[in-house]
This record gives sequence, C-alpha cells and structure tokens, in this order.
Amino acid sequence: MSAEPAPKEVVILGASGGIGDALLRHYAAQPGVEAIHAVSRSGTASAPGPVISHKAEITDEDSLAALAARVEAPDLVIVATGILSDGTALRPEKSLKQQSLPAFEQVFAVNTFGPALVAKHLLPRMPRDRRAVFAALSARVGSISDNRLGGWHAYRASKAALNMLLRNYAIEMARTHPQLICAGLHPGTVDTDLSRPFSRAVPKEKLFTADHAASCLAQVIADLHPGVSGQVFDWAGKVIPA
Ligand SMILES: NC(=O)c1ccc[n+]([C@@H]2O[C@H](COP(=O)([O-])OP(=O)(O)OC[C@H]3O[C@@H](n4cnc5c(N)ncnc54)[C@H](OP(=O)(O)O)[C@@H]3O)[C@@H](O)[C@H]2O)c1
Repeated sequence: MSAEPAPKEVVILGASGGIGDALLRHYAAQPGVEAIHAVSRSGTASAPGPVISHKAEITDEDSLAALAARVEAPDLVIVATGILSDGTALRPEKSLKQQSLPAFEQVFAVNTFGPALVAKHLLPRMPRDRRAVFAALSARVGSISDNRLGGWHAYRASKAALNMLLRNYAIEMARTHPQLICAGLHPGTVDTDLSRPFSRAVPKEKLFTADHAASCLAQVIADLHPGVSGQVFDWAGKVIPA
C-alpha cells in the first residue's frame, strides 16, 4: 500500500459513467477527502459524502471555464469520460472502408479534444507546492507498439493521441508544478455501457466490475510519483508502452 495521504480536493469528469461513478463513490467514502466535484453532462452525478455536483460538457469550453472557477486547488483530477459507440451510427470500425469523417470527429471530440480542454482549464488550478495527479482514462488499445489486432481505427487513434497529449502536459507542467503527475490509465475490460456491446467473448474472470476497476485505479494513482509522469499505466500499475 502507498504511504500517500488521501487527496483533499478531487474532480471527476464523467462521474455519471460506469467507471466514473465507481471512482466517485470510492473517493467520496475515503477519510481525508474534503471535497469531491462530480462533473457530468446532466449535472446530477452524486454520491454520499462531501460531493458537489457540477454540469459540464467536456467539449464546451465555457462550461469548463465555469467549472474551473468553482474549484479551489484540486490535488486529483480524473477524466473518466469516453466514447466507443453510440448505439446508432457510431460503431468501432473493422475495416478502413468503414471509416467516416463524422465518426472520427465524434470520437476524437470526446476522447481527445475534450480531455485536452479539461487540461487547459484545470491543470493551472492544481497545486504547485505539493503532490497532485491529473489522470485520464485511456485504453491499452491506444498503444501503437502493442497493436496486433488492428481495427477500431477512430477509438485506437483517439486514445493514442490522448496519450501523446498527456506526455506533452507532463513535460510542460514539470516547469511550474514539479510535484504534478500526468498519467493515462487503462482500467482493464470493465462491465459498463461502453464495453457491454463488445464484451460478450470476454471470459467472466477477465471482465472487471466497475467497483473493482475503481479500487485498482485508486491504488495505481496513490503509487504514482513525478518521475513517472507522462506515461500510461494499466489497472495493475504496469506501464503500457507507447
Ligand atoms: N469499460 C471498459 O472496458 C474500458 C476499457 C478501456 C478504457 N475505458 C475507458 O474508460 C473511460 C470510461 O468508460 P466507461 O466504461 O465508464 O464508459 P461509460 O459508462 O459509457 O461512461 C462514459 C462517460 O463519458 C461521459 N461522456 C461522453 N461524452 C461526453 C461529453 N461530450 N461530455 C461530457 N461527458 C461525456 C458520459 O456522460 P453521460 O452520462 O453524460 O453520457 C459518461 O459519464 C473511457 O475513456 C473509456 O474509453 C473503458
């Protein structure tokens, strides 16, 4: 177990999602957490504990600026938003023939550009004088060197680009916030709305509950230190190569 104390002020974006909600409940129940900002598009995500609910759309900068004005100095920000399919036209591509500009735009807007705008508005609010973590949920399939199956063009590429941005932010923030860590996190295959249409073939023992994923990710977050900033870690704390 890590010796790091619990974060004092936490922001979770995508707090209405499967993993975001489990992370929200995990941190809201942790002694030492003084305020936890639950951000969702509906503004209704909540949990028992010191939770403040906020409404924001990660692709709408005005709503992110308004959110940033309502937080103090968060020492943990988790971006738990993401999209893979939408139940209608958007489906992960099996072939390059299935690619479309609207699908690329939709997936990159949520998985890459949104987290970038969150970083723009929240990273400057994070403390300069103590340890802090900015984490975004990425995915193992965003690893270029680990890609042996292909497919899922927009989703894979959006997560690879997200990983590049996190590396950039780690380099840039080290100048002003030497104790800040930027990291991507792969939660494992987790039983949520996002994965459900595609997880039928996943053996039961390999399909995590959101609560299990959240407790693994919280441990990974607690173990991070500035020397590893800019990398992507899986649920067990193992580095995923770029
Ligand atoms: N589940 C897995 O097996 C798995 C595996 C690897 C990586 N991940 C990653 O983990 C993250 C969380 O996934 P999940 O499984 O928890 O999915 P989920 O249950 O579908 O939750 C997705 C969340 O993203 C939010 N969201 C989508 N578009 C948004 C937008 N434009 N603005 C603000 N919020 C938006 C949703 O909010 P609304 O409630 O408002 O729609 C929801 O809170 C994603 O980044 C995903 O890629 C998941």
